[in-house]
Amino acid sequence: MPTLNEIRSTFLNFFEKNDHRIVESSPLVPRNDPTLMFTNSGMVQFKNCFTGVEHRDYKRATTSQKCVRAGGKHNDLDNVGYTARHHTFFEMLGNFSFGDYFKEQAIPYAWDLLTKDFGLDKSKLLVTVYHTDDEAADIWKKYAGLSDDRIIRIATDDNFWSMGATGPCGPCTEIFYDHGPEIWGGPPGSAEEDGDRFIEIWNLVFMQNERFEDGTQRDLDMQSIDTGMGLERIGALLQGKHDNYDTDLMRSLIEASAHVTSQDPDGPGNVHHRVIADHLRSTSFLIADGVMPSNEGRGYVLRRIMRRAMRHAHQLGAKDPVMHQLVPALVTQMGQAFPELGRAQTLIEETLKLEETRFKQTLDRGLRLLDEELSDLPEGAALAGETAFKLYDTYGFPLDLTQDALREKGREVDTQGFDAAMAEQKAKARAAWSGTGEAADASVWFDIAEASGTTDFLGYDTEKAEGQIIALVREGGQTDRAEKGTTLQIVLNQTPFYAESGGQVGDKGMLRTESGTARITDTKKAAGLFIHIAEVTDGVISKGQAAQLEVDHARRTAIRANHSATHLLHEALRNALGDHVAQRGSLNAEDRLRFDFSHSKALSAEELKRVGEEVNTYIRQNAPVETRIMTPDDARELGAQALFGEKYGDEVRVVSMGLEEGSGKGLDGQTYSLELCGGTHVRQTGDIGVFVATSDQASSAGVRRIEALTGQAAFDHLSEQARRIEALAGELKAKPEDVVIRVKTLMDERKALSNEVAQLRRELAMAGGAGQGAGPEAKEIAGVRFLAQVMTGVSGKDLPALIDEHKSRLESGAVLLIADTGDKVAVAAGVTDDLTDKVSAVDLVKAAVAELGGKGGGGRPDMAQGGGKDAANADAAIKAAEGVLTP
Ligand code: SER
Repeated sequence: MPTLNEIRSTFLNFFEKNDHRIVESSPLVPRNDPTLMFTNSGMVQFKNCFTGVEHRDYKRATTSQKCVRAGGKHNDLDNVGYTARHHTFFEMLGNFSFGDYFKEQAIPYAWDLLTKDFGLDKSKLLVTVYHTDDEAADIWKKYAGLSDDRIIRIATDDNFWSMGATGPCGPCTEIFYDHGPEIWGGPPGSAEEDGDRFIEIWNLVFMQNERFEDGTQRDLDMQSIDTGMGLERIGALLQGKHDNYDTDLMRSLIEASAHVTSQDPDGPGNVHHRVIADHLRSTSFLIADGVMPSNEGRGYVLRRIMRRAMRHAHQLGAKDPVMHQLVPALVTQMGQAFPELGRAQTLIEETLKLEETRFKQTLDRGLRLLDEELSDLPEGAALAGETAFKLYDTYGFPLDLTQDALREKGREVDTQGFDAAMAEQKAKARAAWSGTGEAADASVWFDIAEASGTTDFLGYDTEKAEGQIIALVREGGQTDRAEKGTTLQIVLNQTPFYAESGGQVGDKGMLRTESGTARITDTKKAAGLFIHIAEVTDGVISKGQAAQLEVDHARRTAIRANHSATHLLHEALRNALGDHVAQRGSLNAEDRLRFDFSHSKALSAEELKRVGEEVNTYIRQNAPVETRIMTPDDARELGAQALFGEKYGDEVRVVSMGLEEGSGKGLDGQTYSLELCGGTHVRQTGDIGVFVATSDQASSAGVRRIEALTGQAAFDHLSEQARRIEALAGELKAKPEDVVIRVKTLMDERKALSNEVAQLRRELAMAGGAGQGAGPEAKEIAGVRFLAQVMTGVSGKDLPALIDEHKSRLESGAVLLIADTGDKVAVAAGVTDDLTDKVSAVDLVKAAVAELGGKGGGGRPDMAQGGGKDAANADAAIKAAEGVLTP
């Protein structure tokens, strides 16, 4: 009996032998389809290949696609566990042709695989075709030898497959297996078709049309093939089972559930084990593909599935969280076919454990409340919507969980009452919110979020994705379309663009729809919406359109490196300066990073060097950067640094990078940096490249600011520095490594020379000054020897030394020196000590300065200085000084 893993391989190998490329399953969150909540069939990743918009380097492909049907149009959640063939998660095996082969080949492939490789009994197979598709009917007849009564023509949409209201579509043919008359049911198209006798196993779609929003349809340029066969169904058939949950893979998960809950797998708890086995698969795969439990969008669907499983575990009497204990069994079963499961194992386990631990705190009380309410209800009456809402609001019971719990008791919920209670709460929230004063500006965002839901951020995993435009806002009001040249704000239901927050700048990039293009110049956040600031550069953009979004990759790469480097810098600063270092602000832009932190003095050169070296050491360590989700308390317990100014919800992202033995931080006690952070980061620290701090300044009292560069910018900065040193070495005629000593020598020489020059100047001045003939003679005025001299080539600074020199030569007397420095005149006077009672140097200077167009002058009686402007009046100045001496 082949296992499910073997059946998957047989399928893929069959088509590989027939020239198909085995393509990996795409993620459960569709990158190329904003209208889909989750990938729900194999063709989703190829949607644009059928319409000819996208070309790949192969024309034939085969996949085993992960699918989730638990929200939106295809919602199987309610039935899962109770029926033989409903799943929230399943694998769809498929083969695809993009304009290569068509019906004539697709039907024979399917027939050969089923009847030869899988060895199914031909007489048990029958098919349906679209009522007008004679061609397909003909091929079935000729190739498979099916008689007319086993080729059933169906006129309904059952045999015209489309993925949704828009997109590629076409007639299909479905292959059924007849389990025999002992099981009730009729062939497809009959009144009894819903019975279990005839089971559809494979759907072959002949893609040949495309549908548009306005309801019109066109013929596609090429004819293609898209087939889908549920692995669990064909598995059950090949393993001789009627119930998908009896296949080896599902059975092993059911047994794992039985083991951890110590409850018989086939006893009365069977349905609970089935729910747990199914939900374990969908939740684990969703988490591995980047979905996290939340109260919005995809995260909420994940939470609903998780909580539903957890309630069933509770029904089995489980006291402790169980879901996370089942993950190893799942990884054993499916980890080889889907390596992402093993890679995300820790994250999956932690997320499940966290959710279950938290939900358990209210689950008991909620269920008790439910029981009490039910015991008071008359037989058959529905549970009041208000009670269901209370369970939702206070105890975290999603509506379908309450419905699921009631189903066992044959009761229903008054869903209208539930909706009314929900609407009332929203109205109250809104009223409270509009009182905050921000209402006027922000009310448009609140309106949009309320009408269309918030934006899903895909940018942790991808930089390209499709989103649906849910609103266009211009000058504060909503509009339906925007033409070339318009600047506006665009809101989408999902986006890879990071909106400015936590110091990280918003993304830039391009947005394209089928009718126009817009440049995104910034992205911001309000009311849970991501607001793309845009300029329409071509054509027209309309509300409701699907848009291809592409983040400016080079810019985001640089931002990522700067953001991760900031975390390393934070840690290195704490190590170098102490635990008082706390983040006070940051900027992670594309061209630089800035980090403000509490520390009261400038870093020494030694400290800066140590910090830079430490950051670069951890960059070169090139350890993976990991992200986990946990409660803020758990994160702090693990040693995470909280970011300044961020508000934390129930769950936080914890980003860890670098390995440091014995740090005591993180789950392993070996994590270098651990921070709560919502930003985008490099995958490995080596992606940062290199880190260079460019400045350290005071930012405000007690706060320092370091600016730094990473990657290409850091390299450019270092190259520029090196280039300058080269140039310097060239000028100095020295080797670059000798420039420092050469400059130091030059500076010493310069100092010696300038001392020498000053000395020579003084000597020259004493001798009468350059070009001024012989030295001055002192003359006697009223018994005082007075010496006056006008000089050039000396500065005001030189005068006091010259005055002293003159005074000592005169032994007794007064001196006045006037230095003409070109644009100014400096004056100094000196009086020997024996005369200071009679004459003051201050008076001499004042008198001279007044003539030279200056003001004041001052000093002591033995030495005074002043300044003026008009050197031409030097003689008059000397006369004035002489006047002071003349009685
Ligand atoms: N797209 C088709 C389906 O989902 C065939 O793969 O059934």
